[in-house]
Amino acid sequence: MNAKDRAIAGALGLAILGSLGFMAAYVLHASIQAEGLALAVALLGFAIAAIGWANWIIGDDRVIDQIEEYPSDSADRSAAVDELEQTEEEVTRRGGLVKLLYAALGIFGIAALFPFRSWGPAPDGALFKTKWKPGDRLVRENGEILTKDALNVDSIVTVFPEGAIGDASSQTVLIRLPDGVGQSVDGYIAYSKICTHAGCPVALYRAAAHQLMCPCHQSVFDVADAGKVLSGPADHALPQLPLEVDSAGYLRAKGDYPVPVGPGFWERG
Ligand code: FES
Repeated sequence: MNAKDRAIAGALGLAILGSLGFMAAYVLHASIQAEGLALAVALLGFAIAAIGWANWIIGDDRVIDQIEEYPSDSADRSAAVDELEQTEEEVTRRGGLVKLLYAALGIFGIAALFPFRSWGPAPDGALFKTKWKPGDRLVRENGEILTKDALNVDSIVTVFPEGAIGDASSQTVLIRLPDGVGQSVDGYIAYSKICTHAGCPVALYRAAAHQLMCPCHQSVFDVADAGKVLSGPADHALPQLPLEVDSAGYLRAKGDYPVPVGPGFWERG
């Protein structure tokens, strides 16, 4: 093995070391920087090997050989045999390099599979459900449990299921309406706070018109008519949370939202 071949072998060895280093860093939960450094070393090894392979083995010198008339003399024939033997030796040597290249690519391929573990479990139905369950009491962000006397007429508050305060998909606006307005339960009505256009929080309430407005692109929803879109880019009504009031006067959810909350996507027509 000449110096050039040894350099290529060294570069492939560097690629193998980098790949093994990446696997070790990933398994040991080392820093992202350590993983990145190991990956960079592996890729650097491959890059050097590829350049070396192209420049040193293939070569770019042009060889022009004069074709002489046949039959060739015995000296030429013996020179051709010598050349053939030398070529055979080179092919064998390069065969070792090819095996090393396969090994480096194989180990790098295994290392590339490691990050798949970071994908975590499949979301299953999580994209279509929130944390609301039948019987959940409605609580404010500060943990206060809400009863039917908690709000004044035309007031609005953000609520969560008891035990899931802060859960993004469950955030809900609870509104107290005047008597006779909308399909309320003891004057209360609740909608998902996540805009059905692009997911902004629907937080602006025009009490006089019973309308919720999204500040992002000005979609307006009719609180008194099942959250229907009155204007703006949203094309789906705000999902309504089914409510009930228990014998002790606590506001409770009768179940989860009947449709997925948030922006419309593949499950909607
Ligand atoms: S996100 Fe609400 S209107 Fe666009």
